[in-house]
Order: sequence, then C-alpha cells, then structure tokens
Amino acid sequence: MTASHAHPPADDDPRLLRVWEWPHAPLRTPAAAVEEFGEELRALVERMWVTMYHARGVGLAAPQVAAPLRLFVMDCSPREEAPPRVCVNPVIVERGEEVLSTEGCLSFPGLTVEVPRAASVTLRAQDARGEVFEVALGGLEAICAQHELDHLDGLGFVDRLGPLERRATLREYLRGLEALAGEGQADLGEVIALTRAALGEGLGEGLGEGLGEGLGEG
Ligand code: NI
Repeated sequence: MTASHAHPPADDDPRLLRVWEWPHAPLRTPAAAVEEFGEELRALVERMWVTMYHARGVGLAAPQVAAPLRLFVMDCSPREEAPPRVCVNPVIVERGEEVLSTEGCLSFPGLTVEVPRAASVTLRAQDARGEVFEVALGGLEAICAQHELDHLDGLGFVDRLGPLERRATLREYLRGLEALAGEGQADLGEVIALTRAALGEGLGEGLGEGLGEGLGEG
C-alpha cells in the first residue's frame, strides 16, 4: 500500500532493501510461518520499516523484499490515527461487510486498482517478540492488513479481480511500466518482460491479445 510520509529515510541508508515488482517470483510465492523470534527477525523488521518509509508506503510485506516469511509492517498514521504495527503470522478471524477499496502497491509501480475488501477485520498475529495479540481494525488499517496479508499468500491485488478485469488491469500495468521505462526510470526491463510473459499465459498469444485489447479500453 502507498501514501506519503513527511520525512523518509535517505536514499543511501544502508538498511534499505530492494522492493521487488510483480510478477517477480517472491511476489507469487506463498510465504512460510515465522518460527524464530530472535535478533535476525528484529533486524529484518527494522530494515522493512526503513524501506517502507523510504518508499512512502503505509504497509510492506516481507515477500516484497524477497524474505519468504509471514510478516508485514504497517503505519497508516499519515491518513488516520493509527500506531505502527508489526504483524507476524497474521490471520483474519473476523470480517465486516464488503466495500470497494482503491489501492496502490509498492510492487506495482504506477498502478491503482479498485478491489473488493472487508471494511473491518479482526486480526490475530504475533509481534516481533512472539507475543500474540488480537486487534479490531477499520478504515485504511483494515484495508492495508488485507492487502499485506494477500502478499503473504503469494497474491497481488490484481489476483482479487475477475479474470477479464485482471487481464485488462495487467495490460494497463504494462503500458504504465513501458511509459516509466521510456522516462528513464530504474531498471524495468526485466519486470516488463515478465509482465508480458504473464499476459501470454493461459489464453494463448493471439486469442489473448485480442481479448485484452477489446476489454482494456471498454
Ligand atoms: Ni502491496
């Protein structure tokens, strides 16, 4: 999830981790439960905070930085009153009614998607020391927790869309990446190639291209 923070860490902070873009493998692989609550985990959490604030995100899941663990951090305080939260091995134990939420994602540069989510959730998780807690979340926090939890299951927000809408959205994502690359932004060549390949999956090249075009602009 994305938003803006007033004072992000410096670009040369040595704790910064690479945020992987979808569809790189870490983003499409279910993560493993955290079993060790030691220094290593706390160091990862610290680096995730630095990386999230630097990227002006409100949430970051471990698979986004290629750590295959069930863990996310979130801080929705730029938009609403909320403390920073570390959620390890999180599960949703209760969900409220469904709403449509408009979301960005640090792993989908430039893309905004409307996704069905529960308006409120009760989350059970552990903190960085392994203490179990349960918290009722609403507003942006509820949405963010669901978005980040999806990352732990190897899902991006496009996977919450129906197959045709997903395809149209991926075409929009691809066009956006190509535009960003044209402006000289970062090394997007690999993620562009992977996204093209992902669009080629399932429907077959010719048929898939035609379907995608028709729905993309409709
Ligand atoms: Ni995300």
